[in-house]
Order: sequence, then structure tokens, then C-alpha cells
Amino acid sequence: MDITAVSDATPAVVADAGDAVLHVEHLSKVFRSGLRGKAVQAIRDVSFTLEAGKTLGYLGPNGSGKTTSIKCILGLIAPTGGQVTLFGRSQRDASARARVGYLPEHPYFYDYLKPGEVLDYAARLCGLGRAARRERIPALLEKVGLADAIDRPLRGFSKGMLQRVGIAQSLVNDPELLVWDEPMSGLDPIGRKEVRDLLFELRRQGRTIFVSSHILSDLEQLCDSVVILRRGAAVAQGALRDLLRRDLLESEVLVGVPGDAAIEALAAVESVVVGEARDGTVRLVLASGQVGALTLRAAEMGAHLIELHPRRDSLEQLFMRKALHLGDGGGAGPGEAAPATAAVEPGTEEVHR
Ligand SMILES: Nc1ncnc2c1ncn2[C@@H]1O[C@H](COP(=O)(O)OP(=O)(O)O)[C@@H](O)[C@H]1O
Ligand SMILES: [Mg+2]
Repeated sequence: MDITAVSDATPAVVADAGDAVLHVEHLSKVFRSGLRGKAVQAIRDVSFTLEAGKTLGYLGPNGSGKTTSIKCILGLIAPTGGQVTLFGRSQRDASARARVGYLPEHPYFYDYLKPGEVLDYAARLCGLGRAARRERIPALLEKVGLADAIDRPLRGFSKGMLQRVGIAQSLVNDPELLVWDEPMSGLDPIGRKEVRDLLFELRRQGRTIFVSSHILSDLEQLCDSVVILRRGAAVAQGALRDLLRRDLLESEVLVGVPGDAAIEALAAVESVVVGEARDGTVRLVLASGQVGALTLRAAEMGAHLIELHPRRDSLEQLFMRKALHLGDGGGAGPGEAAPATAAVEPGTEEVHR
């Protein structure tokens, strides 16, 4: 079902491709907490632009500053420095905010309400008329898999079900820009897939999507670009195709070999690592740039290529390298909160643009 089809009071998607829907420049946020007003630098000089119709993944481990950034973007808290524009206007401009659908990290609802009531309230706030509400609310609940629960109080809802109510609520105004903070959190694998599929559908409809996550595989296929945060700073950002550098990557090759002499000859090609030989075949791993040389050598030796798989750098690996700094002696383990106050070590990778 196309949720744009149940829209009436709100405008259709109007931002043109290439328009900056969200522009963040030198954003920083310092919290002062405790009696002594100890400073926590939650965001450090983050800049990026999200164009109409594109999907941006905002990634980073817990405590890296995702939610704080989102609150600054939406004008829910004041940044310490920098600027945010939504649809070319200040994010405090009500007409710009009306075009945004926000899913908070922990959606909170009065638990005596039913999903239909929550959505009805949200739709009234957005100025939807009675007829539009009557059509749109059941359609949205159906879309997020809560059609059967429309009249049940939220009291008995699981975290996953509440998340779906939050998702439906964020779509009630038929928003052009979605700002979803960890939409898959609390969902089981099927729920995660459903949310991912919904995001794909919303993207196909031409909506602009800003989505945060600390689980990279959830977003890898979805995003046009990513910003990877570590301790409040963007340690990598840009188009995924540029960040996932294929030229540095490896390929895995299965070769049919006539004998051990052929295996030795193949192993002599630069950067080849030979796996186990079995049933007249051997599996090799090599730098992708050496595939041509390997193919030539294989032909000379009467060997033949059976399979060739480029081993693509996954977003997960990129994240490990950039956000967690594994392999350079530093970094927190996955899911651990890196203290926002800690200084960024020398050697932090250059921020890509
Ligand atoms: N209201 C606040 N007061 C003080 N520190 C805060 C506040 N909100 C967030 N922080 C700190 O800012 C950092 C970033 O938090 P947050 O934006 O919630 O990260 P994420 O969403 O990536 O998990 C953390 O160190 C967190 O403890
Ligand atoms: Mg968060």
C-alpha cells in the first residue's frame, strides 16, 4: 500500500532532487552536568548535507552523539555551535518542521491509550481533517502490522509493538523528511526486516530519510551516504561507494588445478594466499588487483577458474576501522560507550567529504 495515497491535507513531496533538505554545518554540543557543571562534548564540529530523495545513515556506537545530533537537528535542544537548516529554513521554522516525521529513540506514550487514539491525536495536531484521519490511521496501522491491535491499550504492548506505534506516528503527516532514531532497536529479526522493507518503500516514494543506528547491517543496503560518528566527531562520511573502497579489497577464487605444480605456480603470484586443496580444486585469496595476473598464470598451467568473488568491504568492517579504531590499538568494543569527554587520539583518520 502506498501511504501517499491516503494523504489529502498535507502537500505531496515537493522538494526537488538535488535540493538540500537538511544541511548541518559545524554542529557542536557541550552538555554541562553535575553540580560542578562538568563539560561533556557530545558533538564535535559535524557537517553534512542530505539532498531530497536520498537516504543518510547516521552511524556510531552507543554514546557517540547520534541522539544529541538529532535533537539539535529538530530544534529540541539548542546546539552549542553551528547551524542547521531544514528545507532551506531555520529548523525552528514551523512550516519546515511540519514536513518532518520524527521517530524518537524511545517513543513514549500514555499506556492507557490505544494505537488508534495515539495516531488520531497526532493527526489532529498535524491538522488532518476527520475524513482523512479515518482513512489514514487504519492504513498506517495496517502498514506497521498493528491492524489487529488498533483498539487495545498500549499497556500490554511489547517494546517492538510500541516501536511500530512510534513509526506509524512519524508517518501521520505524510512527511517529506523522515528522522528516525534507531528504528530497529527492540525488534526481533523479522521486525527488523519489516522496518527495513518499510524504509525501502518510503525511499522509493521519494522521501528523504535520515536514520541512525549502531547496527550497521540494518542500513548497509539502504543508504546512499553515511556519517560515522565516534565520540561525537565524524570519523568518516560520504557516499558508501566511495567509502567502501573496492580497489583495496580482496577477491576469493576457486581454481580447478591439474596438480601440485599448478598450485605452486599460482601461489607465486603476488599477494596470493592458498587455502586447502580438495578434489582437484584450490581456494585462493588475493588482492583484487592481482586477479588478472592469476588468470594468466592459471591459463599457462592448464588450471581454470571455477568461481570468483570480490570480497566487498562491508559497512560493518568500515565501521570497525573508522569508528572503533580496531587494529590501531585503541577503541572500545562494539556496543561499548566510548566516553564523550575523552580526547580523540592522534592518528584519527581524516574526515572524508
Ligand atoms: N542531557 C545530557 N546531559 C549530559 N550528557 C548527555 C546528555 N545527553 C547525552 N549526553 C551525553 O552525550 C553523549 C552522546 O549521547 P547520545 O547522543 O545519546 O549518543 P547516542 O545516541 O549515539 O547513543 C554521551 O556521552 C551522553 O552521555
Ligand atoms: Mg541514541
